[in-house]
Amino acid sequence: MKTLLLSALALPLSQAAAADDVFVNTPKTTLMLSVDKGQTPAIQYYGSRLSPGQGREVHDAMSINSDAYPAFGRDSFDETALSVTHADGNMSTELVVTGWRTEGEQTTIEMRDKKYDLFVDLCYKANDRSDVIETWTVIRNGEKKPVRLEQYASGVMALRQEGAWLTHFHGSWGQEAGMTEEPLTAGLKVIVNHDGVRTAMDDRAEVMVSLDGRPQENSGRVVGAALCWTGNYKLRIETRGKYQHTLIAGIDDLHTAYTLKPGETFTTPTLALTYSEEGKGGVSRAFHRWGRESQLHNGKALREILLNSWEGVYMNVSQEVCEQLMDGIKDLGGELFVVDDGWFGRKYRRTYDDKALGDWMTDTVKLPKGIPALVKAAEDRGLKFGIWIEPEMANSTSELFEAHPEWVVAHPTRELSKGRGDTQLVLDLSNPKVQDYVVSIVDNLRKENPTLHYIKWDCNMSMQNYGSSYLTADRQSHLFVDYHLGLHKVLQRIRQAWPDLVIQLCSSGGGRVNWGFMPYFDEFWVSDNTDAQQRLFIQWGTSHFFPTMAMAQHVSASPNHQTGRVIPLKFRFDVAMTGRLGMEMKPSDLNGEEREYARKAVAFYKEIRPIVQLGDLYRLLSPYDNKGFCSEMFVNEDKSEAVFFCYKFENYIGMETPRWHFAGLDPKATYRLNEFECAESSHNFEGKTFSGKFLMETGIDATLRRQYASRVIRLKRI
Ligand code: DGJ
Repeated sequence: MKTLLLSALALPLSQAAAADDVFVNTPKTTLMLSVDKGQTPAIQYYGSRLSPGQGREVHDAMSINSDAYPAFGRDSFDETALSVTHADGNMSTELVVTGWRTEGEQTTIEMRDKKYDLFVDLCYKANDRSDVIETWTVIRNGEKKPVRLEQYASGVMALRQEGAWLTHFHGSWGQEAGMTEEPLTAGLKVIVNHDGVRTAMDDRAEVMVSLDGRPQENSGRVVGAALCWTGNYKLRIETRGKYQHTLIAGIDDLHTAYTLKPGETFTTPTLALTYSEEGKGGVSRAFHRWGRESQLHNGKALREILLNSWEGVYMNVSQEVCEQLMDGIKDLGGELFVVDDGWFGRKYRRTYDDKALGDWMTDTVKLPKGIPALVKAAEDRGLKFGIWIEPEMANSTSELFEAHPEWVVAHPTRELSKGRGDTQLVLDLSNPKVQDYVVSIVDNLRKENPTLHYIKWDCNMSMQNYGSSYLTADRQSHLFVDYHLGLHKVLQRIRQAWPDLVIQLCSSGGGRVNWGFMPYFDEFWVSDNTDAQQRLFIQWGTSHFFPTMAMAQHVSASPNHQTGRVIPLKFRFDVAMTGRLGMEMKPSDLNGEEREYARKAVAFYKEIRPIVQLGDLYRLLSPYDNKGFCSEMFVNEDKSEAVFFCYKFENYIGMETPRWHFAGLDPKATYRLNEFECAESSHNFEGKTFSGKFLMETGIDATLRRQYASRVIRLKRI
């Protein structure tokens, strides 16, 4: 990335020190920018917190000095954040600072083009409680005619360090959030998603850059970045030489040119950043705290233990079947029952996945007394009730599509490309009438069932047909963005009307896990793959940016329906207990002994729920380390309680259990250990006491012998 011509080293020290510097401070971090009027604003420093006087040190050391929001057209030989075609056809932009202001937590750097009436506010919000800095821009067209935004990134971060490593996440259905760690070498690394709708299924919009070489969990300097956008995105990391790295993140720039009429503004999505000296774990904990404090819907409330009907009975729902499932989960101590796909459709009944999406009327053959009877049955058993919908979609075999073929995303001249069941289509949410319709689905369900507690909001298709009959010909390139702006309007209206509704985000599993969604949702379905062994990997990756309380993790049947693997019930529970615990099977398939075990596990989870859901996560041993083991632990805010999990998912003769070094404890405190249902005959830690220092430094030898052995140890300060 371009180093500004006005290099600090080239200036006399006093002049460099006199630069107009802005400090964006969180409790432990500082982002320092220079904002001299008439000049390009520049990132000078991002790291541990500086005192105001240290600005001089930053300049004297010739720190970063890199354009804070590079625009295309003048001296722009590197990657740019903004590219605009002005009203007269000129494609160059030259932004300079006109002023800056700080109001509360927000700092705004005001810029305008030197020659054109194009205004850009570069905004930073410093979060007091979490060390996360949010950045975004507001772009205003003050020209007399429309301008076209070709590229309009959310934010930029420049780093200077040789030997930095990148951590990022990639996957597909059933194997979401696969973690890749690699050195950052010269060139351009691009992380991009073009799905249109399900934009976290393959590449994810979150990255970490470890500045001290190979990424470590609990040590080293790490920067974390998450683009909070529900639609297509692009993250570029440009590395010049060995040590100049620039991250530019924003809405993808493929077929997303956006026209601003005179006077119109565009606010980009947010890029959230944090810096930690406690390794990747420190970055994760900052994002989790930020999420619970200010992003996730209802981020401070404990989540309920539920049974979802999907893997138990798939679409074969009926009053009788649902009541059996309700009896099952009630007996085990659960709190909520959710009826999944299959409950709707009149003219076309949802007996298979090729019909009825869009027809949100109860299938009266399966459920003659309708949803109110299911709600009542749940409540009669002391359970809350939830229901599945996929409101952004239609099947071509549906009454909705017959009535409104113009409501789906479609090319005007081409044959429709269809998704699931060879009939699935995406509704065009850029159209306000479609937005009203989607809002009405939730409104109607809630009005008919005032105590409806929970909705699972699914979404199982990509935007396969690019075209909108609502947008005019010259605005077709707005569809990728306007779909999502429309979806946000829908979700805002639903949240305004029904703030107490618990809503789960699902998208063929974890296909939409992005911070742009979280303000509207209480939790998300991590993956359709419920195999406990593979879940260790999926959950490990997901936990890098997303808090435990939001991660829906269900115990399912064995053999597992996705992989066929046979795994003991204890291991399945121990894996699911590191998130929001639920079940997704027929409890009646458990034998008496297993049922007894499940009852104990649910009761134990209730005890540790506040630690797991609201505490800090410390990842200890990665399943990616190829050792066949995995471990993590949770510590509550005042460090008085913790819970430790370890797993063995492979077994070879001669494999030795690693010594477990705990983390996050109070070194001066003494903790009493209690094991939950320990299957190991020796090395049992029941009732033993240790200092926090000993547990973290020396550790314990909690052996795991068999494949799928797992241990859960609870710690209480005494
Ligand atoms: C995909 C989801 O991920 C599953 O959990 C389930 O709800 C199905 N859709 C239902 O069609």
